[in-house]
Amino acid sequence: MSVPKPQMEEGFSFLTLKVALLLVFLVQFTVADSHHKHAGDGVQPLSKIQIHRAVYELHENASVKAYPVLLGTKGEDSQWVTVEVASPKPSEDDWLAVFSPANFNSSTCPSTNDRQKAPNICSAPIKYRFANDSNADYVKTGKASLKFQLINQRADFSFALFSGGLFSPKLLAVSNAVSFVNPKAPLYPRLAQGKYWDEMTVTWTSGYNIIEAVPFVEWGLKGEAQFNLPQEH
Ligand SMILES: *[C@@H]1O[C@H](CO)[C@@H](O)[C@H](O)[C@H]1NC(C)=O
Ligand SMILES: *[C@@H]1O[C@H](CO)[C@@H](O)[C@H](O)[C@H]1NC(C)=O
Ligand SMILES: *[C@@H]1O[C@H](CO)[C@@H](O)[C@H](O)[C@H]1NC(C)=O
Repeated sequence: MSVPKPQMEEGFSFLTLKVALLLVFLVQFTVADSHHKHAGDGVQPLSKIQIHRAVYELHENASVKAYPVLLGTKGEDSQWVTVEVASPKPSEDDWLAVFSPANFNSSTCPSTNDRQKAPNICSAPIKYRFANDSNADYVKTGKASLKFQLINQRADFSFALFSGGLFSPKLLAVSNAVSFVNPKAPLYPRLAQGKYWDEMTVTWTSGYNIIEAVPFVEWGLKGEAQFNLPQEH
């Protein structure tokens, strides 16, 4: 697409800003990395979860409630969700997993014709925290309140309480599902210089199929009249 000169200058300053941000990120990563090496850890936290060994031990008095149920009502791409946990037999190694899509039961497992028993859970948590995390008296009270930041990733979410630690998880309770109002919303806009000096490329990620929605770009100076461009293929 062609962009008049004032726009181009804005584009350049934006790119410069991006380079600056990238440098900051790189520096932070390096710091985080060396920190991890000092800790002698080097293990991806999610990889410790033996989810294929999980068994169902749903308990009628254990519960997990997540709210708000509807996320992104003001157009947000990410949002903090509060999760209230109650367990009749709390233990230090109880943990709370985030699943997305929300339905993670065995109905999502691929069918096998092996004689081997299929696992009870075939998807993997995208995040987890121990129930006692910032709830030091969880082991006494059996109640915890945890916060998770969720990013719109085009599927709904649920939260599951496990006992038995990460190595022999026992599923005690599953929460209600929460989801973003518009899971297909266009996200992650990216700007790049086009093939010619006066061209700029705008790309984004959308959950919409090309037959469901007509992509377009609206552009102009902030607060002034905007122009619409149909998307080029
Ligand atoms: C759940 O709580 C109720 C009321 O306190 C109690 O009567 C019941 O036995 C509990 N269920 C289990 C499985 O512990
Ligand atoms: C919380 O549980 C973890 C895992 O079992 C344990 O390592 C940690 O010491 C506990 N923290 C508190 C504050 O009890
Ligand atoms: C899995 O979850 C779905 C949707 O909640 C439900 O209809 C189905 O009965 C569940 N299947 C099993 C095997 O638990």
